[in-house]
Amino acid sequence: MTSRVVRLYVTLDKLFRHSQDNQQQKQEQKLSVSHPMESLSTKETTSKDCNGDSAFENVVRAPDVPVYAVMVAYSKDPSPVKLNLGIGVYRTEDGKPHVLNVVRRVEKLLIDDVSATKEYLPITGMAEFNKLSAQLVFGADSPAMKENRVTTVQCLAGCGSLRTGADFLAKHYHQHTVYLSQPTYGNHPNFFLAAGLTLKTYRYYDPITRGLDFQGMLDDLGSAPSGAIVLFQVCSHNPTGVDPTLHQWEQIRQLVRSKGLLPFFDNAYQGIVSGSLDMDAQSVRMFVTDGGECLVAHSYSKIMGLYGERVGALSIVCKTADVARRVESQLKLVIRPMYSNPPIHGAAIVTAILKDREMFDEWTVELKAMIDRIIHLRQKLFDALRDRGTPGDWSHIMKQVGMYTFSGLNAEQVAFMTKEYHIYMSSDGRINMAGLSAKTVPYLADAIHSAVTGINL
Ligand SMILES: Cc1ncc(COP(=O)(O)O)c(C=O)c1O
Repeated sequence: MTSRVVRLYVTLDKLFRHSQDNQQQKQEQKLSVSHPMESLSTKETTSKDCNGDSAFENVVRAPDVPVYAVMVAYSKDPSPVKLNLGIGVYRTEDGKPHVLNVVRRVEKLLIDDVSATKEYLPITGMAEFNKLSAQLVFGADSPAMKENRVTTVQCLAGCGSLRTGADFLAKHYHQHTVYLSQPTYGNHPNFFLAAGLTLKTYRYYDPITRGLDFQGMLDDLGSAPSGAIVLFQVCSHNPTGVDPTLHQWEQIRQLVRSKGLLPFFDNAYQGIVSGSLDMDAQSVRMFVTDGGECLVAHSYSKIMGLYGERVGALSIVCKTADVARRVESQLKLVIRPMYSNPPIHGAAIVTAILKDREMFDEWTVELKAMIDRIIHLRQKLFDALRDRGTPGDWSHIMKQVGMYTFSGLNAEQVAFMTKEYHIYMSSDGRINMAGLSAKTVPYLADAIHSAVTGINL
């Protein structure tokens, strides 16, 4: 290399470094100026810069959502004996939130999994999660799944799955009338109303027997227009704790199919009635093995205690694999503008549990222990009321199933129990049995006795 060429290289190198330094300086300046806290102090903005009415001046204050209002009132109550039997979550004997051991175990494994990424999931979520979720409700050897007639998409828990299903039906199904049981889960009407569908109710609960109004249900569904959508709960009906027997389900199925109604199953409590995932899914399986179509919203909130992870799925069982594929393509277009794609963590937990025999068994043992405890608490509450001679027939506490007892207490009695005993529950008298413990049952029984007799013990 000649000395001239070397000098040229040195000059070019200096120039290059100089321009890099300059760029870096400019970038640093830009960064420091655009920092939000500094811009506040340098620009000296004052509140006078933005005078005039709020852009939201005409917004009217909305009423609180009842179950959350109960939660807030409970959290503000300083009483040491307060009891929250409102929101449907499972509590330990000490009244503490419960995280399943198997969930904790999986989470540790997930943290150590270096192959796991934080990349976006597909719009339809985790494929393995979807397949395992469908198998959980339809059965491992479901013919519909073998024939690829089922499409399943991961959604945001039970609520997200119901809303996705409602939006899909509003866009792609010819009948816009939805029948809900009377009463039903408080959020059910919202999913369908928000999707622009029309609501009707069918009789379900008989306040006299505190059981199923089966004839009323058949009569109302029998007079529904052909093709109407009917929302059923797979088991552990919220809020009544009243489920049809398998024999009654079969009669419902025959009616639904003969009238060409479209069943939409809400599956938020599979396993919570009997402790058996297979037994609790019998109702929906009847509607799948007959070759007909239906929708199912799955939720892992209650059955795996994953409430805040928002993990669930929507399955649509179709007549043919070709229809299922087309339906899935349209589900993507429903999901994409809402939240684009679902989150990973909860689905990763569920997938790890469902695909591993040992973890699956551990989960079902834990689930069964939870259910046995709820059943035991039913017996204890019933015995406690009988021992106190509380007026009325309380046998429905033993006959109703799953997470809730529809006590028959009226809004006034509930208000009395809240005021005098600091017991919080929904005003329709629904008691979350999973919020009780052996220690709190006598206290609840005192409160019910007092509310019913009007005497403070
Ligand atoms: C019948 C029913 N469906 C759906 C849901 C919503 O569940 P998630 O928390 O999974 O959205 C609930 C919650 O209480 C419920 O009771």
